[in-house]
Amino acid sequence: MYETISAELVGKIYIITINRPDKLNALNKTVIRELGEAVDEVYENPLIHAAIITGSGNRAFAAGADIRGFAGLSKEEGILLAKQGMDVFFKIENAPKPIVAAVNGFALGGGCELAMACHFRICNETAQFGQPEINLGLIPGYGGTQRLTRYIGKGPALEVILTGNPINATLALHYGLVNHITAPEELMNKTKSILLQIISKAPLAISKSIAAVNAADGKSDGYSLETKLFGECFATEDVKEGIAAFLEKRSPVFRGI
Ligand code: COA
Repeated sequence: MYETISAELVGKIYIITINRPDKLNALNKTVIRELGEAVDEVYENPLIHAAIITGSGNRAFAAGADIRGFAGLSKEEGILLAKQGMDVFFKIENAPKPIVAAVNGFALGGGCELAMACHFRICNETAQFGQPEINLGLIPGYGGTQRLTRYIGKGPALEVILTGNPINATLALHYGLVNHITAPEELMNKTKSILLQIISKAPLAISKSIAAVNAADGKSDGYSLETKLFGECFATEDVKEGIAAFLEKRSPVFRGI
């Protein structure tokens, strides 16, 4: 179905794998388009409750945008390329279901930006994050200047972007860029086990939580949005079930309504 990625529904979790291991899963135009299509599926398919984005092989999540596609670009083409990636990454960030990056090696440039667009990140011990665009005479173009700064702060972000130096797994954990580090063989199990816990909760509360947390971006009135979404939860059947289950000392059965 796809040329450069694979996507498979395992239980309720959609596993999206970038599949160009010989190019360290570099993100060419086809990968970006196909990632967008797979994320549309996450939005639309009611059988999908969560997704994982990862890379094939054991070396890379994604070693960046495909540098071959940069050669000879005009200013206008550069803007278009950035916009195409940003649109897909916004779609990931604003998805109503959790999308988590399982980072299994290099996450450089656009790969780091893709991981940062996900709702959170788990990595293995070999992971390396970074924004090495400066080495090409470029700056990050898929949201890296914004999300990295938000996640690790201005000073560290500027050091990473201006030196182009990689961030290893331990430093990424220290910065809060990743939530957990695992052994390579444990990465998918750990990511799945966190998602299984999440998707046992009320789906509408999950999507409202994501929307409210996303609004903590300094641009929106996140407090107003939280108030509105908190109120909206009381119009759901699941909140009645959640409260009843607590009072009856049983596990809730959420239905997403
Ligand atoms: N774009 C296009 N191709 C890439 C790529 C990228 N971002 N990153 C790696 N590749 C390709 C290499 O060209 C090579 O292809 P080839 O075998 O046809 O020559 C293949 O992936 C393996 O990479 P290689 O450089 O040989 O592996 P390495 O182990 O020596 O080095 C890296 C690994 C990640 C350090 C190195 O590939 C690299 O620096 N990649 C670019 C990272 C980058 O600048 N990303 C940001 C782009 S905006």
